[in-house]
Amino acid sequence: MADKNKEYSNGEVTIVWQQEVCIHAANCVNGLPGVFNSKARPWINADGATTDEIVAQVKKCPSGALTYYMNGAQATAPKIESESIVEVVPNGPVLVYGNILIKHSDGQEEHKNKVTALCRCGASTNKPYCDGTHKKNGFEG
Ligand code: FES
Repeated sequence: MADKNKEYSNGEVTIVWQQEVCIHAANCVNGLPGVFNSKARPWINADGATTDEIVAQVKKCPSGALTYYMNGAQATAPKIESESIVEVVPNGPVLVYGNILIKHSDGQEEHKNKVTALCRCGASTNKPYCDGTHKKNGFEG
């Protein structure tokens, strides 16, 4: 699988965006519009806020598509305790926090960590993962 991760840095902190994990919840766009602007290219401007503001916002990403690392330090992801947590998002996916093994119907296996968004509406084109389609099809549940 090609690495689709994109990185944006202000010299102090680097924001990492995993496009295929993003569920387009828009928490980042609504929470810190000076940095996250889906209408701009590139859509992330790491100079649009302080490092502390960026870190605080990235930690709120519900899918784990946004992570960060401090430049010169090892990549930082939200610390996951050994206990797995499953969260049903109203009108959206199921989020699984922690290290899990996905066994696909074709026999392939995939390890996931951090946060994995699983489709609950049945309309994702990237099953079993949520691709944000639930927002377009008006899924309620
Ligand atoms: S729940 Fe997000 S695409 Fe189905």
